[in-house]
Amino acid sequence: MPKKKARQTEFPLDRAFTFLESGPVLLISTRHKGKNNLMTLSWHAVMGFEPTLGICLGPWNFSYHALTETEECVVAVPSVDLMEKVVDIGNCSGQVMDKFSAFCLTPFPAKGISAPLVAECLYNLECRVVNCSLVQEHHFFVLRGIRAWKHPSPVDARSFHAVGDGTFIIDGELVNLRHRMTKWHGCI
Ligand SMILES: Cc1cc2nc3c(=O)[nH]c(=O)nc-3n(C[C@H](O)[C@H](O)[C@H](O)COP(=O)(O)O)c2cc1C
Repeated sequence: MPKKKARQTEFPLDRAFTFLESGPVLLISTRHKGKNNLMTLSWHAVMGFEPTLGICLGPWNFSYHALTETEECVVAVPSVDLMEKVVDIGNCSGQVMDKFSAFCLTPFPAKGISAPLVAECLYNLECRVVNCSLVQEHHFFVLRGIRAWKHPSPVDARSFHAVGDGTFIIDGELVNLRHRMTKWHGCI
């Protein structure tokens, strides 16, 4: 008997982002009026090699005002050992607290912008806002990385990914298919 093909069941459209947002959960570091701040962000997209990336950051966040006014931020990739802190950082506001000190994270001076790097993170990318044309309608900022940094000796080098409603997937096995990258060797 031929195996019956499983029929797809309809998925709630307003939850579709949960199977698309595969990038790592990020911390966005800003500095405005002499104060550092951090927020958690999982909606982002790579847009070019330069590197250019887009982040979706809404006006309900205190960080939004820092980003629109300074036009710069650090995009930091936290490791799995920071996971609980990262979720908590995304559930409180920098308007009423200093998140670096509350969560025992270390602001480290960046080279090209005033927002600080997050010393404990796996990677830090100093960014400038290069396009705001989609901010009003989609809260989407296009950023250009100007300097990148890597943690020299992370406790755990795995990042983690949001899949909706407070659930996360931690990086798994690394699979090397480089020999099949005949068209894109060394590129993507
Ligand atoms: C796992 C997680 C992912 C989040 N992703 C986003 C996001 O992609 N965009 C956004 O605007 N807010 C996102 N948030 C919400 C902000 O992090 C949250 O509103 C935070 O409190 C803002 O801090 P601030 O007010 O100090 O800027 C996320 C929160 C969590 C916990």
